[in-house]
Amino acid sequence: MVRSVIKGLGSYVPPKVVTNDDLAGLMDTSHEWILTRTGIEERHFAEEGVYCSDLALEASRRAIADAGITAGDVDFIILATLSPDHHFPGTGCGLQDKLEIPPVACLDVRNQCTGFLYSLTVGDALVRTGAYQNVLVVGAEVHSSGLDFTNQGRDVAVLFGDGAGAVVLSPSPDPDRGLLYSKLYAEGKHAKALCANVWDISRKPYLTKEDLDQRRHFPSMDGKTVFKHAVTRLVETVKNTLETQGISREDIKYVIPHQANMRINQIVADRLGWPREMFLHNMQRYGNTTAASIPLLLDETYRNGMISKGDLLLVIAFGAGFTWGSALYRW
Ligand code: UT7
Repeated sequence: MVRSVIKGLGSYVPPKVVTNDDLAGLMDTSHEWILTRTGIEERHFAEEGVYCSDLALEASRRAIADAGITAGDVDFIILATLSPDHHFPGTGCGLQDKLEIPPVACLDVRNQCTGFLYSLTVGDALVRTGAYQNVLVVGAEVHSSGLDFTNQGRDVAVLFGDGAGAVVLSPSPDPDRGLLYSKLYAEGKHAKALCANVWDISRKPYLTKEDLDQRRHFPSMDGKTVFKHAVTRLVETVKNTLETQGISREDIKYVIPHQANMRINQIVADRLGWPREMFLHNMQRYGNTTAASIPLLLDETYRNGMISKGDLLLVIAFGAGFTWGSALYRW
């Protein structure tokens, strides 16, 4: 049996750090409010002129070097983002160009905070068919250009940060290692709870000055609804994963959760009756980096020497769509 394994991983955040106090200088918020409601202390913002594909490129270079391959060995690129370089073409194509490699397949995945998990699952399927040897799976975001830093947008603007994370997925003949399981979901009836209302293709033209005047290009979020559904679905998906895979909490070394809000992850841990320490976090320093959050956390955890061969990781995510899911990965 062929499994896909992470042959290399890497991440990148732009150098500029923006603290909660910095945001409090722009809108009516405070370090205390942001910290107690979310656990976030600071985030990184890209400078003007930096594209999502630029952050993806840095993370990809690191993952490719870590895998011990060259960029030319990559034969498929999957890039997850909700902040693409442009409406079209896909940002994966931009990344292929910046990697300066010959033409390869490029796929953009638009599944927001669950985007990396969806991409990993698709990459795994591609590797297991035997058709691809080095699938580059990237999550990258430049949120800072699309946030409303006035009081009107403060509930969303304080949450997000920019960054990128990447892995190289390759085949392995060892049936006990690699991506052992994944399960994905989406429920579109909650689309309006977290979305950007710009680009309404049913309207002719689909983009007007009125859209900008009415601030439709900024995200709109019903935070409480997102929060409640996130907790319910994440608890449910963890329970299903354990049940269907015949494993228990004791088998799992760490939970690598999407980094939206520390309270969400703590409540999930509490409802499951699991120690909170099993759920790893780095959102304190990066905020919510959407599709990048899971590979960023995975890369840091690996680089800190916290993961050993044989460790079982449970990856979980929930986000706009609504979309959610889980994966089990044996290191
Ligand atoms: O990856 C998925 C992405 N999104 C999420 O996961 C978000 C999920 N939701 C959340 O994390 C939380 O709902 C938030 C952190 C966004 C908000 O926390 P909350 O405890 O649900 O606060 P709230 O929306 O009920 O707002 C409480 C108060 C309100 O004031 P009043 O009506 O009580 O006077 C808000 O206007 O806090 C106010 N508020 C703020 N105050 C200071 C909202 N945003 C801010 C802010 N700073 N940035």
